[in-house]
Amino acid sequence: MVMVKDLRMSKETVRTKIIGVGYYVPPKVVTNEDWSKLVDTNDEWIVTRTGIKERRMAEPGVASSDLGKIAAENALENAGMSADQIDLIICATISPDKIFPSTACIIQEKIGAKNAAAFDISAACSGFPFALTIADQFIKTGLYKYILVISAETLTHLVDKQDRSTCVLFGDGSGAAIVTQSTDESGVLGTFMKSDGSYENTLHMPAGGSRLPASHETVDARLHYLTMEGKDVFKTAVYMMRSAAEEALSAAGLTVDDVDLFIPHQANIRIIKAIFTRLKVPDERVLINVDKYGNTSSATTIIGLAEAVEQGRIKKGSIVVLTAFGAGFTWGATVIRW
Ligand code: ACO
Repeated sequence: MVMVKDLRMSKETVRTKIIGVGYYVPPKVVTNEDWSKLVDTNDEWIVTRTGIKERRMAEPGVASSDLGKIAAENALENAGMSADQIDLIICATISPDKIFPSTACIIQEKIGAKNAAAFDISAACSGFPFALTIADQFIKTGLYKYILVISAETLTHLVDKQDRSTCVLFGDGSGAAIVTQSTDESGVLGTFMKSDGSYENTLHMPAGGSRLPASHETVDARLHYLTMEGKDVFKTAVYMMRSAAEEALSAAGLTVDDVDLFIPHQANIRIIKAIFTRLKVPDERVLINVDKYGNTSSATTIIGLAEAVEQGRIKKGSIVVLTAFGAGFTWGATVIRW
């Protein structure tokens, strides 16, 4: 009995801490004006409906691992570490370089993390909170010492550039964090993850997998692009992102009022405003960068976190909440004391 109690106590005190963050977005800026020359849209519609003014676009031939490599190297530099110290790489992506091998393995080779295990997770826009939660478990059990958590996306390669209802929404980018055991009060305080697979077809890419392998017919029918029922996603996103944040805060024993900075998934300014108006959280406690990057799927929350650190918006002791929602549906949140 005493042994069990001791083990429980020691596990409760083990906390996972982020010791380095980095991000990278490709240099090419695509404005709403640029899109209006390609599809029937305009700056006013896009800004009013989404809050997006511009997004970054990877050049043809530039894949998610190319962005992930630079974000990972920036996180390593920020942590003052070398790649060979990393024990595990978890990459969240829904725009992998290939169906297999994993983008995590490709990034492992690119950065020279020769001592690491590596795998991808697919949780769409909730990818970073999900991946961080997985890393948190490995750190708490003591199996790994240093874990590199990456979100890397090039969704502009996977949107139908003739479909104005989706192509204007997405951008490319990557973010990365290095985690290890905390030696002080800082670290991950609470996490939450949930999914509902009944929404499979509300937001998906119909072809290219084992259900509908690539064929001339699937290509002709434009089934290798992302499709989305925007209105259904919108309504659910507002409720689920708020619920995820509240659940993770409850797991941490905190409330909305304790939070210094919320970093929500950046899909649409109206979704973000709807959530934080209901929670009565003022604008200065919510990070917004959807205007300059659009929706970079799993990368939005970690890019936001890395930017907030860079800009000094997060200080030692700050309570930060990442909350996200995406295809699946999936929704998840993480509470961190910096
Ligand atoms: N420019 C001009 N008009 C457009 C555009 C455009 N780019 N896109 C659509 N429209 C038109 C539509 O055709 C429609 O016209 P109609 O009334 O003549 O049929 C009209 O604008 C209204 O379209 P809606 O779809 O009703 O517009 P809505 O206000 O719902 O906004 C949007 C659409 C921005 C997609 C919104 O629904 C949204 O943000 N949804 C959530 C997206 C999201 O959160 N995704 C997160 C997860 S992403 C992931 O996991 C990969």
